[in-house]
Amino acid sequence: MLGNFSYRNATKLYFGDDSLKYLNDELPKYGDTVQLIYGGGSIKKNGIYDAVVGILKANGKTIVEDAGVMPNPTADKLREGVQLARENHVDFLLAVGGGSCCDYAKAVSVSVNCDDDPWEKYYIRFEEPDCEIIPVGCILTMAGTGSEMNAGSVITNHEQKLKIGHVFGEEVMPRFSILNPKFTMSLPKRQMVAGVYDIFNHICEQYFSGEDDNTSDYIAEALMKSVIHSSLIAVEDPEDYEARSNIMWSATWALNTLISRGKTTDWMVHMLGQAVGAITDATHGMTLAAVSLPYYRTIMPYGLKKFVRFAKEVWGVDPDGKTDEEIASEGLAALEGWMKQIGVAMNLSELGVTADMIEAIADATIILDGGYKVFTRDDVVKVLKESL
Ligand code: NZQ
Ligand code: ZN
Repeated sequence: MLGNFSYRNATKLYFGDDSLKYLNDELPKYGDTVQLIYGGGSIKKNGIYDAVVGILKANGKTIVEDAGVMPNPTADKLREGVQLARENHVDFLLAVGGGSCCDYAKAVSVSVNCDDDPWEKYYIRFEEPDCEIIPVGCILTMAGTGSEMNAGSVITNHEQKLKIGHVFGEEVMPRFSILNPKFTMSLPKRQMVAGVYDIFNHICEQYFSGEDDNTSDYIAEALMKSVIHSSLIAVEDPEDYEARSNIMWSATWALNTLISRGKTTDWMVHMLGQAVGAITDATHGMTLAAVSLPYYRTIMPYGLKKFVRFAKEVWGVDPDGKTDEEIASEGLAALEGWMKQIGVAMNLSELGVTADMIEAIADATIILDGGYKVFTRDDVVKVLKESL
């Protein structure tokens, strides 16, 4: 049965190769001082920085530079960003970059007017914001996380060896996001495919749970097929605008809460991947890719019906004369073939993980229920070892 739910998405999107101009429509809605949040400098090389600063200045904004948001933004960087926003009485946070900048902006937004340490409050105690929130806007330069249209924010604490996500309420979602597929074209191929696998896995996490005949699962299958199709075009020709557009749009829908409506979800691949990230600081999408196949092969017998459906509907596996186990296994083999074709990490060794790190990664893994098999710590260790 489709479960009961409410649904609203608070983020306004501007999509397309002319979408940056709509920043002019949005900026007048917010105060004069804008914290311009960006990463390690890619936006200076590809010209996006100059274009955004030009629009901010034309709109009379005072710019507070907040550069150097690293992939997998840290609790220390978050504290610095909060301090910067406080000192400059910032009215608006504009993130220009990938999920890391967008996630970081949301974390700053809920922390500026709050006395508590943000890491402890939001990522350890999982409290909700009880102070005034600074609004966030996002100009996306990498497709993957869905952060542009959701309330998620993932922060890493290297001292504590933890990488933890908090899904806030809709008031923390970006007020608007600007999605120009051309902005993603300067991504190195490795980052592009890491983003592609992140998208695909977000869909899987919401698909491989429950047995119901649910419209959300049909939408998920369509999104998966679009991601597979477009990614194969984009790895051959990264400049293919149509493929890059489809990837960007799929990323947004893969994790803006739509396809989880009315059903249960799993998220254990993300829990394993985040734990790998906490210990290694590896690229998010690659951490997911490295653990996925051992994870799905482990849970397949417990959710066989769905894995059969996945094989037939997503990969076009011919079921004729085969057992359910054979059909489901062929589906996972097709997934493996596609992952190799686009070039994601196929094991944890590629990410620098060694056998002596397994226990620490297992310690950092948060075990969730909702999947076809509720894991024990031993299951976590087994999947991590198989992923090496
Ligand atoms: O820092 P710069 O120089 O900008 O370089 C970035 C970074 O090195 C580069 N890049 C981005 N756009 C580019 C570009 N390089 C050239 N041209 C461009 N157009 O790509 C690198 C990775 O960027 P990052 O923002 O870290 O990647 P991503 O979008 O994958 O974000 C990863 C973070 O998001 C979290 C992850 O855990 C990780 O911390 N997630 C957030 C989620 C959410 N909010 O719902 C869900 C996800 O599952 C994920 O956990
Ligand atoms: Zn992800």
